[in-house]
Amino acid sequence: MHFSSLDFLLASLVPLADAFPAAILEAAANDPAILARAAEISKTLAERQGGADAATAIFEPVPIFNAKAQYINVTQGSGHEYVAPGPDDLRGPCPGLNAFANHNFLPHNGYASVAQYVEATTKVVGMGPLLSIFLSALGGAIDGDILNWSIGGTPSLAQGGATGILGNGLTGSHNKYEADASPTRPDLYQAGNNYMTVTEQFQDMINHSPDGVVTLDSLTQFRSDRFDTQKATNPYFFNGPFSGVLVQPAAYTFIYRFMANHSAESPIGTLSYETVQSWFGVQGTNGNYQAVQGTERIPDNWYRRALEYPYETSYFLTDALNAIALHPKFLDVGGNTGTPNSFTGVDINDLTGGLFNAQTLTQGNNLACYVYQLAAQAKPDILLGALDALADAVGNIIGGLGCPQLKAIDTSQLEKLPGYSRKPVYA
Ligand code: HEM
Ligand SMILES: *[C@@H]1O[C@H](CO)[C@@H](O)[C@H](O)[C@H]1NC(C)=O
Ligand SMILES: *[C@@H]1O[C@H](CO)[C@@H](O)[C@H](O)[C@H]1NC(C)=O
Ligand SMILES: *[C@@H]1O[C@H](CO)[C@@H](O)[C@H](O)[C@H]1NC(C)=O
Repeated sequence: MHFSSLDFLLASLVPLADAFPAAILEAAANDPAILARAAEISKTLAERQGGADAATAIFEPVPIFNAKAQYINVTQGSGHEYVAPGPDDLRGPCPGLNAFANHNFLPHNGYASVAQYVEATTKVVGMGPLLSIFLSALGGAIDGDILNWSIGGTPSLAQGGATGILGNGLTGSHNKYEADASPTRPDLYQAGNNYMTVTEQFQDMINHSPDGVVTLDSLTQFRSDRFDTQKATNPYFFNGPFSGVLVQPAAYTFIYRFMANHSAESPIGTLSYETVQSWFGVQGTNGNYQAVQGTERIPDNWYRRALEYPYETSYFLTDALNAIALHPKFLDVGGNTGTPNSFTGVDINDLTGGLFNAQTLTQGNNLACYVYQLAAQAKPDILLGALDALADAVGNIIGGLGCPQLKAIDTSQLEKLPGYSRKPVYA
């Protein structure tokens, strides 16, 4: 629901209308001070009732900050000081995981076990355990050897062992995990790589974010513009049924929800240009940025989100749904047909065997049911056996949601799209 300031002003004056002559009401409606106050109140109301960060008020009702518990110590001698990656260390499209490896919250070589990912993501940034176990198990299932996976490309024999080298890692997971229209990384079929930070895209994110801070609002508008730009320029742009619907929103909301600094003055979190710069490994100043590959770094004096408010699946999906409410195109699964701006949508109803459609997908628990059940059908790099860990993770998330049973996905519509069917070549 949206109020214009004047609508709000008039609505608030209705009870007074009998008592005040029309002339006074009219004067009030023209008084700049009253109008400014009305604008302020209606903005607060709008924030409570909609907008990109409407979930905050629901999931963090009482602001909490505990400096001791939320401080992440990365000083010399902490064991988590920054160490730049060497030439053999694996790094990839995820700045959060790259930073964790640079700070030894994950093995420095970038190859880790599912349990290590869960430990790092829940402790360092406050990812909710269900979301963390799901994302980590999915990595093992589709990009690794079930137990372990790489945050970059394929591990060496020394890093991954005989089964590890069969998994292609996050960098090698285009359309399975790694998606088009990322914040700072390019589209694979447009740039020839999908993991290097593009300085211009980082600058674009900052340009979308006024007053020195990056917010969920600015990130959501940035995502909308990135989506349009990639559709208009990448002949093979593809918004995948899973990667586009679940991973793409994560790539944007994680920036604010996990990278913001927390304090007594700002318990929900403030993400300054300097803080986001550090996390993304970008040198220089606004207008003169320079991305330095592999240097993602947790800032000094940085405080994570409150322990009481982990960013769990329900919180994340509410953020994703709020973004869809603002920009319904985010749910357009499909892709370009080989030329820019030739976007052809895929019918969700056909894709899911009649289980969901574009109208019902945003209702109730349907989006959650859809994305998690779709993930459970994901194709692994190698078939090493049943993907029990992933099935368990999905089961734990959707257990209480009363999901209708997704039996199979019909990929025939997807196969007609070159962004889906093309065999990836990785740089
Ligand atoms: C096990 C947990 C995680 C997994 C499996 C994961 C996986 C991924 C993948 C596959 C991408 C590429 C998406 C794309 O192509 O757009 C990505 C991007 C991203 N991830 Fe993660 N991630 C995890 C945890 C985190 C954490 C903890 C943070 C924040 C501290 C984070 C922040 C981001 C951001 C900001 C991007 C977008 C990068 C860009 O294009 O600018 N991720 N992640
Ligand atoms: C951070 O770690 C360093 C090195 O171990 C230690 O000297 C310092 O007291 C720690 N800081 C806090 C606030 O715990
Ligand atoms: C893979 O993960 C398992 C289980 O956590 C662990 O025991 C093993 O050492 C890992 N393998 C490698 C090569 O890191
Ligand atoms: C986080 O906020 C605290 C309190 O305002 C401040 O002292 C600290 O320097 C901030 N850290 C970062 C990385 O901005």
